[in-house]
Amino acid sequence: MLSYQHAYHAGGPADVHKHAALCLLLERLAEKDKPFAVVDLYAGHGVYDLGSTEAQKTQEFSAGIARLWPLRNMSTPLAVEKLLAAISTLNPDGALKTYPGSPTLARAALRETDRLVLNELHPAAQDDIKKWARRDSRISVHMRDGLEALAGLVPPPIRRGLVVIDPSYEVKSEYADLPDALRKAVRKWKEGIYFVWYPILADNRHAELIAGLEKDIPGEILCCELMFTRGKAAKDAPGLRGTGLVVVNPPWRFDTAMTEAGEWMAKTMTAGGQHATRWLQRATA
Ligand SMILES: C[S@@+](CC[C@H](N)C(=O)[O-])C[C@H]1O[C@@H](n2cnc3c(N)ncnc32)[C@H](O)[C@@H]1O
Repeated sequence: MLSYQHAYHAGGPADVHKHAALCLLLERLAEKDKPFAVVDLYAGHGVYDLGSTEAQKTQEFSAGIARLWPLRNMSTPLAVEKLLAAISTLNPDGALKTYPGSPTLARAALRETDRLVLNELHPAAQDDIKKWARRDSRISVHMRDGLEALAGLVPPPIRRGLVVIDPSYEVKSEYADLPDALRKAVRKWKEGIYFVWYPILADNRHAELIAGLEKDIPGEILCCELMFTRGKAAKDAPGLRGTGLVVVNPPWRFDTAMTEAGEWMAKTMTAGGQHATRWLQRATA
């Protein structure tokens, strides 16, 4: 049973960190004339109304994008600048009402020859994403289990691109199943960039995911984590304590750009939190 609804979390600190990184990856793909494909395996609704009952109930966006929004005309790290520019396009009158999901950020980067492949299993989110993608022939929408879709939709016919893996982790076995599915996908499509998001919770269950990702996956693997609080406050914090992402085959200098953006976000968006960037695997010369 799927109960997770991203509308409660849209624009929160985890979304902001994840989407800033995604904007950087999309920017790097669009730098070259060659077409690219984005495969987004857990697409969600596409776009979120911050005035909705769900967003208003948790107010997660108040601790995330609402803190950065007033800084949109100032100098910020490139990843943050790109995300704020995308959000400004959605909110042209300057009032922060709408927040983009990963499909909206990906669509904004597409040229005529690029493709966006979306997958979503929740029926309500699937309805929304289908309506959102209607009449755009560059976008296709699938309704499968995300890890099954990873096996079935990768590699895409355009052999340059990015796979976005952003599960809700409602089922605990996803932490162990994801690395196995990813290992098979990377072996089939070695040149692809793979972007995995994970939550950092009190019980550190993401450790199982990281341990799995460190085993036998070809390519370079980078990990970036943003903790929201520090010390005792972090130990006692309920719910999400931080947010993490892993990128297999990150583009050149993505690590330094994310370190700069992450450290800036730690200062600007968290209560004494910290950002860390580390290589899980580095190619040997
Ligand atoms: C964290 S949200 C995705 C947010 C989206 N990627 C974004 O950044 O805007 C996770 C999504 O995965 C969907 N989902 C949950 N389990 C799934 C599964 N087994 N296969 C595919 N989608 C699933 C949920 O309905 C939810 O919309």
